[in-house]
Order: sequence, then C-alpha cells, then structure tokens
Amino acid sequence: MYGGFIFIFWVMCLGRAIIVSGCPGTGKTTLSVGLAGVLGVEVISLGELVEREGLYSYVDTDRDTKVADLDELVPRVVELIGKASGFVIVEGHYADIVPSKFVEVVIVLRAHPEVLRKRLEAKGWNERKVRENIQAEILGSCTFNALEAYGSKRVYEIDTSNLSEEEMVSLARRIIDKKPKDYRSGRIDWLSLLDADNQLEKYFSS
Ligand SMILES: Nc1ncnc2c1ncn2[C@@H]1O[C@H](COP(=O)(O)OP(=O)(O)OP(=O)(O)O)[C@@H](O)[C@H]1O
Ligand SMILES: [Mg+2]
Repeated sequence: MYGGFIFIFWVMCLGRAIIVSGCPGTGKTTLSVGLAGVLGVEVISLGELVEREGLYSYVDTDRDTKVADLDELVPRVVELIGKASGFVIVEGHYADIVPSKFVEVVIVLRAHPEVLRKRLEAKGWNERKVRENIQAEILGSCTFNALEAYGSKRVYEIDTSNLSEEEMVSLARRIIDKKPKDYRSGRIDWLSLLDADNQLEKYFSS
C-alpha cells in the first residue's frame, strides 16, 4: 500500500515514457496520436524531433533518411520526458534509445509482411527500401531491440494487420492498464508462418 503511494508520487514527479515502437508502416504515429487523445498526454515523435531540431549526424542518401545523432537526441528526449508531469508517449522505430529507468511499458507494433508492403508502397517508397523494412519486420528487429533494452516483462506486441485505429487504441490502453501476459512479446512470428507456407524465398532471395 505504502509502496503504491510512493510509486504514484514518483510517476507524478518524474514523468514516465510509454514507448511505441515497430518497423516503419506498422502504425506507430496513428496509434500514438489516437492514444494521446484518449489519455490526455503528449507524444514525442522521434522522427519529427530529429527533423525539427536538426538532431542528426548525416543523411543516408541511399535510403533518403536522416540518421539520428544519439549523443544529442537521447539527452533531449530525457529532458522532454522529465518536463512531463506524468506519462508521455515516445514513438519511433528506434524508440529503444530511451534509457530504461524512464520506461513504464513498451508496445511494439507488428504487421503481416503483405499488409506492410501495401502500407509502405502507399508511402511511395522504392522497392529496395520496402523490401529492407519488410525483412526487418519478418525478423522482428524492433522487438529484438526492445527486449535487449528493457527485458521481457515490459515488452508487449500488437498485430495491427487486421485492426482498426480504434481497436489498436483500445488494445494499447488495456496493455497499459492491465499488462496482460497474453500480449507479451514472443507470440508474433512471421518467420515460422512464412516458412511453413514455403514463402520465405519470396522475401529473402536475391
Ligand atoms: N490499423 C491500421 N489499419 C489500417 N491502416 C493503418 C493502420 N494503422 C496505420 N495504418 C495506415 O498505415 C500507414 C502507416 O501508418 P503510420 O504512418 O501510423 O505508421 P508508422 O509506424 O508511424 O510509420 P513510420 O515509421 O514510417 O512513421 C498510414 O497510411 C496509416 O493510415
Ligand atoms: Mg510515423
């Protein structure tokens, strides 16, 4: 009981991050904006922050991407989390850069490779960039990074392939409130699914 009060007091004083990670196109921005609306909290979008404040070290012209300067970005994100009086959502495909002590829970969004293909092609991305990002999704790279950074007990996954925005928001709320074990990471496995259907060649052969 006493410990609970201390925890609530600590959260109110320090600011804690709800991390929304996932490969590009899995729905991080869509979910974060919806979730922020219902929770009444701010969103820190790492991509936007890097762009707005010039926190990148160079531009990867092959991938048309600004590569974040972590020596500048991490302290800036910590500063912004510290300014929040309660929870703040941090979203981005490398959101595992947030130091562990500030993190309440991590939600990694996933999407079936074919669903992801449609979403990434709709962004106008070239075939190489689409393919690299689908491969990263199949291999679960964002889940891997989240597990490395935060351990298995705080990392949850949502398969967004067949969910509406409202369903994603409601599931994310349930994860934040109840921490249900059946949404912990490890249950979404495109690699095995595609292998069972003899589909892996399609995504990995040259
Ligand atoms: N649950 C969903 N069902 C259908 N479409 C979705 C869903 N979530 C997101 N989308 C659509 O998929 C596209 C990618 O979503 P969004 O931009 O939120 O992804 P993201 O993870 O933020 O991508 P990025 O890393 O490139 O910023 C958008 O066109 C969005 O409208
Ligand atoms: Mg986004």
